[in-house]
Amino acid sequence: MKSFHIVTFGCQMNEHDSERMAGILEERGYAPASVAENAGMVILNTCSIREKAEQKFYSELGRLRTLKKANPKLTIAVAGCIAQQEGKKILSKAPYVDMVLGPSDIAGLFTMVEAHRRRPVPVIETEGDPEYHHKLIPASRTDGLKAWVSIMYGCDNFCTYCVVPYLRGRERSRPPRDLVQEVRGLTEKGFKEVTLLGQNVNSYGKGLKEGSDFPRLLGMINDIPGIERVRFVTSHPRDLSDALIEAVRDLPKVCESLHLPVQSGSDRVLAAMNRRYTSSEYREKVKKLKSAVPGIALTTDVIVGFPGETEDDFEMTMGLLGGVEYDNIFAFKYSQRPNTAALTLTGHLPENVKEARLERVLSLQRDITLKKNSRLVGTVQEVLVEGQSKKGGKLTGRTRGNKAVNFHGNDAPIGSLLSVRITSAGPNSFSGEPCV
Ligand code: 5AD
Ligand code: SF4
Repeated sequence: MKSFHIVTFGCQMNEHDSERMAGILEERGYAPASVAENAGMVILNTCSIREKAEQKFYSELGRLRTLKKANPKLTIAVAGCIAQQEGKKILSKAPYVDMVLGPSDIAGLFTMVEAHRRRPVPVIETEGDPEYHHKLIPASRTDGLKAWVSIMYGCDNFCTYCVVPYLRGRERSRPPRDLVQEVRGLTEKGFKEVTLLGQNVNSYGKGLKEGSDFPRLLGMINDIPGIERVRFVTSHPRDLSDALIEAVRDLPKVCESLHLPVQSGSDRVLAAMNRRYTSSEYREKVKKLKSAVPGIALTTDVIVGFPGETEDDFEMTMGLLGGVEYDNIFAFKYSQRPNTAALTLTGHLPENVKEARLERVLSLQRDITLKKNSRLVGTVQEVLVEGQSKKGGKLTGRTRGNKAVNFHGNDAPIGSLLSVRITSAGPNSFSGEPCV
């Protein structure tokens, strides 16, 4: 039996791309292997968003080299953002690699596998398939309840620190009828929740002949029977329209939860990042959201130590975090990425300054998260039952705000929605009791 193993680095987009590569291979009779050691083919689906992600890939690649020495028949494929960034240069660093394919070349995976089997020389595809967004690609999803669905590819924003537009190309939206068809198919398999994926979902629909936009797409997905919950990532604050706020408020299946990356609280830094909003415009949008959708769960991304960030700039980020009170944040030290405009800025900061600022935002957020979490104690939350919790004897599920809750209630079927009263709050999860 032909077998494969995929190691995924990076974001949800990559996780989902891996599900698709698995879907393509399984459709052709390949079986998944749980570890690389047992597989005939190993795919590394790589991430290049920060230098650390790149280092992780190269150390995994080194490990595969040892495996390949022991088993010369092993096929090694490199997919994802580093594949796109490096192309055939990967072969000069690692001549034992057999295949290199970019994120928009996934649909051709099996053709590449066949070509390599016929003639075992390295196969490289990083041109990007211009019709990629019109292709219906199978996906082998590991979770039976919650599914990712890509609604668009690429990004046109060119934030000055970000490598994504260079690697995932220009924005392309998938047609709404393909998306509705995919989500209908998911409900037939028992899926209850979909997360719509795109680098910038708020600009969904740009360039589509059918003329659609993101709030309208949300309405179409909301109307599909069998789907109980709809989520989406990521929203660019500049494109967060009133119509989208109204959609989150009015569409019953769209969860009251939003990831809205702010990156910095300083207008000077935001301008240097090419974010195209000011911190007060951002705060204004958050205010609108909170008043339209009371209790909405908000998360964000923050970059500390962007070139030229002064102590005052950084304090503005701290002030914004204190003012907005996010449910959680993802904070990163600025990392230099190839080709990006920020590389040429002056005022690159030493590692120890970035490290200290990262510690400070994380410590502030720990307090805010705990404070916000404790406010949920005593409230009743709708929980989608997902299965047994890691702590024995309990079930686990998530609230509409995407918070993990563990509770007794063993007769609640997996996939059902249950009202659970929150009894205690920790930093990362909650305990609760089902309401009778
Ligand atoms: N350095 C640090 N963080 C980055 N991000 C993107 N590019 C960089 C970089 N060069 C962060 C941003 C983005 C998230 C996905 O990753 O915060 O929102
Ligand atoms: Fe990168 Fe900005 Fe596009 Fe997000 S919106 S992928 S941070 S360029």
